[in-house]
Amino acid sequence: MAVQWSDELAVGVGAIDEQHKGIFSRINNLLNAMAQGKGRDEVGKVITFLADYVVKHFKAEEEIMAKHNYDGISSQKTEHAQFIRDFSALKMDFEKNGVTTHLVLQVQNKLCNWLKNHIGSEDKKIGAFLKKCA
Ligand SMILES: [Fe+2]
Repeated sequence: MAVQWSDELAVGVGAIDEQHKGIFSRINNLLNAMAQGKGRDEVGKVITFLADYVVKHFKAEEEIMAKHNYDGISSQKTEHAQFIRDFSALKMDFEKNGVTTHLVLQVQNKLCNWLKNHIGSEDKKIGAFLKKCA
């Protein structure tokens, strides 16, 4: 089970698209590590790396929006903060219970769906906005 990048998810801003692809490949690393029954240390490392990567990505995305006075920035920030909260809860669940079926399902459903929905709707609006401004 992997999360698949598709051109439909392209926002049209090079830096953002590359980072989104990076998030997808790291989520796949996480899904693989869990599916292959990798040890706690290894899965933990992937989770920590992904958490850090996502925070940096949101920051970069918010900087691009701020720079261009994008009017949808506040709803973007709210959604990003929500994702960070959900991800921290997932990380805590892992730290407490290790890799469980529940955790795998959370990553497959919640994280993957959130990303696809967020990128496909909110983030694509940034690309459309920037194109309009150019
Ligand atoms: Fe975003």
